[in-house]
Parts: sequence; structure tokens; C-alpha cells
Amino acid sequence: MLDNKGFDLWAKEYDKSVEKSSNEYPFDGYYEVLNYVYNSVINKESKKILDVGFGTGLLTSKLYEDGANIFGIDFSKEMIDIAKEKMPSGVFIQRDFNLGIPLELKSEKFDYIISSYAIHHLSNDKKVEFIAQLKDLLNENGSIIIADVAFRTEENLLKCKRENLNKWDEDEIYMVEDNVVPALYKNNIKAKYTQISSCVGILEIY
Ligand SMILES: C[S@@+](CC[C@H](N)C(=O)[O-])C[C@H]1O[C@@H](n2cnc3c(N)ncnc32)[C@H](O)[C@@H]1O
Repeated sequence: MLDNKGFDLWAKEYDKSVEKSSNEYPFDGYYEVLNYVYNSVINKESKKILDVGFGTGLLTSKLYEDGANIFGIDFSKEMIDIAKEKMPSGVFIQRDFNLGIPLELKSEKFDYIISSYAIHHLSNDKKVEFIAQLKDLLNENGSIIIADVAFRTEENLLKCKRENLNKWDEDEIYMVEDNVVPALYKNNIKAKYTQISSCVGILEIY
């Protein structure tokens, strides 16, 4: 699993590298997924949005251009620098989200909390714990939209692994609908899962 220094090294080439591999694991359906999240944000102009693991801002910069008020958490300084160039008025906090919600954000409320290709850096238990913490940061009608490498079933995950053994990343912890949705439900959190491509899905929490 990459640490913040690993992401620092990837930052300058990141946009090009996802473009090249957007039809294969782990980025199969990358742009479709980003469009899904983008289109899920209604009346973008007036919205306050937090992006968890925003990277170079490929997703959030479009929302920013539409007039959304963008906040973000990411632990890579190089990623933050690139995002900041695209979104000068964005509020970006350099922080490892394994440590929970940054203090600076604890009193904020958001209309949307979004995240793409980042939450697989948390263990399954921590994902549930973190989502519960994020839910406390939502406005009354707010929602959380998480796009990531994910599967409906463990069987589908194993199939993808068999087909991509040469590049499968054992350290990344991918969501499986059959596990994560009931685990959230046990914590009184209702979630809807949608499979978008061979290896990417979206979890929506209201
Ligand atoms: C694969 S990139 C995805 C970037 C962007 N969301 C996208 O869809 O293109 C993962 C991002 O999450 C950040 N990240 C990974 N683990 C993190 C952690 N534990 N805490 C904070 N940021 C993290 C990385 O620095 C990187 O910018």
C-alpha cells in the first residue's frame, strides 16, 4: 500500500496514468464513476462539499468550477499542491484519514461528502467507523458518495483477483457489498451499493 511519499511520487503523472488505464483493473470505468458522482451532486453552485482523498482534484475541480465550496483531506503534499493550483479557494487539509476526522472539520457541516479511489486504504472495521464519523458532518439532507474498487460479492472479488494476478494489490482492502452494507446497517446507517464496472462500485449513504 502506498504511503504519502508514494503518492507524492505519483502526483505529477497521476492524471495521465489513470487516463491510460481507465479500462482495466483497478481503474476500469474511472471516468464513468467520476461522472456518476459529479451528476449525483444537485445544484452544484451552492453546495459545500468535502472530498476525502481528493488527489489531484480530477473530480472536485469540476464541482469547484461549477461554484461548489470545496474542502478536502489528503495526506500527500504533492497531490494537495496540484489540487490547490486547480482550486485556489479550496480548503485542503493534509492529514492521514486513518486518524479520523481532522479537528478543523469537526464543527463543519457538508451537503455532500465524496470520495473516489481512496477508502480502500482503511480496514473494513475502520471504513464503517470512519463512515459513521463522516455522517455526523452531514447537513440534514446531505449524503455521502463513495466510489472505489469494490464488488457485490466475495466471489466477484476473487474472480477479479484471478484475472489480474500480475497487478493485484494485496495490501488494498476493497469493499464487498455483502459485507459492508450489513456492517453499516448494524450501526444504523442505511447504504445503497451500485456496481459501475468490472471492479468499481459506488456506496451511497443518506
Ligand atoms: C488513487 S488516489 C485517488 C485520487 C482521486 N480521489 C481520484 O479519484 O482520482 C488516492 C488518494 O488518496 C490519498 N490517500 C490515500 N491514503 C490516504 C490516507 N490514509 N489519508 C489521507 N489521504 C490518503 C492519496 O494521497 C491520493 O491522493
